[in-house]
Amino acid sequence: MKPRNIIIDTDPGIDDAAAITIAVRNAALNVKLISTVAANVEVEKTTENALKLMEFLGADIPVARGCDAPLLKKLEPCPEIHGVSGMDGYDFPKVKRQPLRKHSVEAMREVIMDSDEKITLAALATHTNIAILLRMYPEVKEKIDEIVMMGGGLSGGNTNTVAEFNLYNDPHAAYMVFESGLPITMLGLDVTNKAILHKNTALKIRESGKEGDMLYSLFEHYRGGTFEEGLRIHDACVMAYMLRPELFKTEKMYVGMVTEGYAQGATVAGKVNPIAPGREPNVNVCVHVDEAAFEEWFAGEFCR
Ligand code: RIB
Ligand code: CA
Repeated sequence: MKPRNIIIDTDPGIDDAAAITIAVRNAALNVKLISTVAANVEVEKTTENALKLMEFLGADIPVARGCDAPLLKKLEPCPEIHGVSGMDGYDFPKVKRQPLRKHSVEAMREVIMDSDEKITLAALATHTNIAILLRMYPEVKEKIDEIVMMGGGLSGGNTNTVAEFNLYNDPHAAYMVFESGLPITMLGLDVTNKAILHKNTALKIRESGKEGDMLYSLFEHYRGGTFEEGLRIHDACVMAYMLRPELFKTEKMYVGMVTEGYAQGATVAGKVNPIAPGREPNVNVCVHVDEAAFEEWFAGEFCR
């Protein structure tokens, strides 16, 4: 089966690092570009972290630096979750590589328009870069087969009681993506909070080789849960969905974004469009994940 061509838009970020490592190692995915954005930490750091990962993995995949702030909102990074560097816990060798000179929006446009086949956008962070790409270069839309995104939720948030971090940090960009008309699959907190990695599995992964050892060291510093209650590897769900969609149940819904006010960043979803009745559902929402099978899949990506 031909590999799926993907661009990863990301803010590494420890769960991003796990997702990226899986994508780079799995031959069923052809990673054409890593596009970075400011979210978990500043874009200088997310770009440095992406370069560290590509160098560590020996992957000849270009990294392009993207936006350093959301479209309108002030960025609220979360070093308390991922560490000040964004990937605390492992002493990566000093990076020799440079990112592309062009902005990641330009790099994404080039990769998409030059590709003979359609591209999937794996969105692991705010949608700032993607929103600008779609607005500046609408011609890319016919060559994007799907946006598979980690973000949002049907029953509450993690940044506050209603908003999930990625969409909270750029609700206007997320609104533009949800209204783009592109096929979107949403891995929201309803499934990613259950995509748990327990310590016994993490210990097996550590013994599996240098990538597992690196990720274990990061997981020890990751504050998306604890080893005792389980670590929530949110962004890995995007790769799990692309590689093993049968682990998830999905429902077509209309998902609207709240862009202003107290509930800024909340996703409002239902069978009908709460804002413009009559609009077709715009998102394929993951509403269930086989938790045990997810953890088994995750381990299997390292302990073959
Ligand atoms: O809410 C979880 C999301 O926010 C993940 O993408 C994590 O990396 C952070 O960016
Ligand atoms: Ca992320």
